[in-house]
Amino acid sequence: MVWFENNFTKALNIKYPIIQAPMASAASIELAAAVSNAGALGSLGLGYHKIENILPDYHKILAKTNHSINLNFMTHKEPNKNDIKAKKYMDEVKKYFEEYNITEIPKLVNTTETFNKEHLDLLLKMNPKVVSFHFGLPDENYIKSIKNQNIYIISSATTVEEAKILESSGADAIIAQGYEAGGHRGTFASTYKEGEIGLFSLLPQIVDATSLPIIAAGGIANGKGIAAAMMLGAEGVQLGTAFLSCPEASVHPLWQKALSDSSSRETRITSAFTGRPARGIVNRLIKDMENKNDIIPDFPTVGSIIKPLANIAADHGDDDFLSLWAGQSAPMNRNITSKELIELLVEETSTALNNFYKT
Ligand SMILES: Cc1cc2nc3c(=O)[nH]c(=O)nc-3n(C[C@H](O)[C@H](O)[C@H](O)COP(=O)(O)O)c2cc1C
Repeated sequence: MVWFENNFTKALNIKYPIIQAPMASAASIELAAAVSNAGALGSLGLGYHKIENILPDYHKILAKTNHSINLNFMTHKEPNKNDIKAKKYMDEVKKYFEEYNITEIPKLVNTTETFNKEHLDLLLKMNPKVVSFHFGLPDENYIKSIKNQNIYIISSATTVEEAKILESSGADAIIAQGYEAGGHRGTFASTYKEGEIGLFSLLPQIVDATSLPIIAAGGIANGKGIAAAMMLGAEGVQLGTAFLSCPEASVHPLWQKALSDSSSRETRITSAFTGRPARGIVNRLIKDMENKNDIIPDFPTVGSIIKPLANIAADHGDDDFLSLWAGQSAPMNRNITSKELIELLVEETSTALNNFYKT
């Protein structure tokens, strides 16, 4: 049996156990469809989607592929209203707008709703092969309805404890998200500190502690990384950052440039862009907010301030306020199409595993 044929690929009806991470706003319809057409699992991150755009975008994907697709939703807690914190925060960020002569500062509002009944009804209507959730699973009644329709359920764990919760709550597979990962930490039941575990330590512990297929995520960028994950017990891998340099990804040119320069620019975990810890390439906002976590309002409200600021700055050629999400392996990115990337990853993994077995 070849390494890429296993129970996980059979259950998802895909050729290769490689998932293109659902990257809300960065993983485009074109990227997801191209990945699925190439034999891996394409994902569409719907976390920041307006509800009325979900169905039309799903139909756009269906027009481009008839292979399995993963739809991804966010299951964050609704933000707290804390006016004192918000006032301090607004006083802090005002100066950035003034630098661009903007006097009317946007309001701090909730821009993104958590997975709710409307999302559930849409999901059941769309009936994709796979659904994945970031920040834990939704309500158990929702899970029951999804299971009734045989949609395969995946969610991320950043600790063994979270993996056990996902298993007992109805997940069909678990993503072990290592600390190397780009974008938001999937942490939902442990503290963020407890979830600071590298993939090499986290993955085998989750494999041993649960009986579900485990998908490795975080810092995997080539076939050697995939082979190592398989050796540690993974049945699949999820790569995010590696796909950001594919032409089909929807990535701002300044972000693309930061990725190209990533060998000389470190990545760090920050709450500065959204109010929730996420890994990105260090820029001015990350540095400025380093010791100001206590005044950053809750996810996802911060985006209503930082996104417009980032756009204004980007129009001036500054990446100071852009969320340059990237994992620790960003310097290994290759500027090739997603189809070429998948073919290369499969070939490299086969070579790595064949060489390993050679005496
Ligand atoms: C730009 C970016 C956006 C992301 N957005 C999401 C998301 O919307 N939903 C989700 O489940 N994971 C998201 N993630 C996390 C990925 O699912 C995954 O854990 C991560 O990309 C793996 O690490 P890597 O980037 O080193 O490959 C995002 C990651 C990146 C880099």
